[in-house]
Amino acid sequence: MKVLVTGGAGFIGSHIVDRLLSDGHTVAVIDDLSSGSRENLPADVPLHVVDIVDTAAVADVIAREKPEAVCHQAAQMSVSRSVREPLFDAQVNCVGLINVLDAAVAHGCRRVVFASSGGVLYGEATSPAPETTAANPISPYGITKWVGERYLSFYAREHGLATVALRYSNVYGPRQNPHGEAGVVAIFSKRLLAGEPATINGDGRYVRDYVYGPDVAEANFAALTADLPQVQPGTLTSLNIGTGIGTDVNELEAEIRQQVSAQLASHGQAVSLPEPTHGPARAGDLRSNLVDASQAAEVLGWKPTKSLSQGIAETVRWFAQRALAG
Ligand SMILES: NC(=O)c1ccc[n+]([C@@H]2O[C@H](COP(=O)([O-])OP(=O)(O)OC[C@H]3O[C@@H](n4cnc5c(N)ncnc54)[C@H](O)[C@@H]3O)[C@@H](O)[C@H]2O)c1
Repeated sequence: MKVLVTGGAGFIGSHIVDRLLSDGHTVAVIDDLSSGSRENLPADVPLHVVDIVDTAAVADVIAREKPEAVCHQAAQMSVSRSVREPLFDAQVNCVGLINVLDAAVAHGCRRVVFASSGGVLYGEATSPAPETTAANPISPYGITKWVGERYLSFYAREHGLATVALRYSNVYGPRQNPHGEAGVVAIFSKRLLAGEPATINGDGRYVRDYVYGPDVAEANFAALTADLPQVQPGTLTSLNIGTGIGTDVNELEAEIRQQVSAQLASHGQAVSLPEPTHGPARAGDLRSNLVDASQAAEVLGWKPTKSLSQGIAETVRWFAQRALAG
């Protein structure tokens, strides 16, 4: 099958590309490289450096590539930028999505998988939230993910697409950009590998459901390629993708610090790493957010495979290879 991955040069998108290639599928990528990188992709994967807001350019790429399925990962994904610039956020996350859907329909694409977010849709959740939880997005970014699902549902009904929205929890892993605001594992790994303390917002008792990037890629792979009884033309299926296990930022930092120490020791650098510092709490941060992914197990046969400590070990190893090279 031929799959177009938008945002395929990014963190999650590039793991999806790898998973598709490993099963012999053909892949093309649209990415404007605003946060992604060519280095995340194998050299022979066609990369169209295009802004999804550019209607004609997106239509041109999809007309030439004629994918059977589209995996839409490209997005403006900074919550704080969405608050400062709601128009920009809506242009990328709504207009960009419509550009991709219109072109997909025009060129015979049959299935579209969309990166949604459990974190921003459900808000405060002290126990794992199922998909039936009422949507309560409070930021423009959350609103555009919610609206994105509504557009998927419309295009499914109107044009007979089979659509799947995967509502990720907090995704982490190799290739995550440590310069954003969301990738706390990447940010802490990078700082600790440089011998600097991690900065924890407020008291750090903010509980999140951390899921490993390649596991999320596996869920996308199943949603794109499997013959699934519930994924039918004309329908939208929304599924949570997470572990349901809560970890607070203090615990997370301790785990990362331990793995960074182990990596430094294995490179002959036995240093004692600084304790974290605490900065001001971030306004509006949820105390707890967890998703219940039991539907994904039923519909996709998907379950996370990596425990948090296994995933952190892999992630820190990846960042260490780059930070300590040479
Ligand atoms: N990382 C998480 O914890 C998380 C949680 C929930 C949902 N998501 C969603 O998953 C998707 C992938 O996120 P990620 O963590 O891999 O981030 P990422 O920044 O690594 O990937 C996004 C990719 O989209 C590209 N992109 C951004 N704007 C674009 C535009 N206008 N045109 C073309 N390409 C553009 C970027 O260059 C990047 O390669 C996003 O839709 C995000 O909203 C991520």
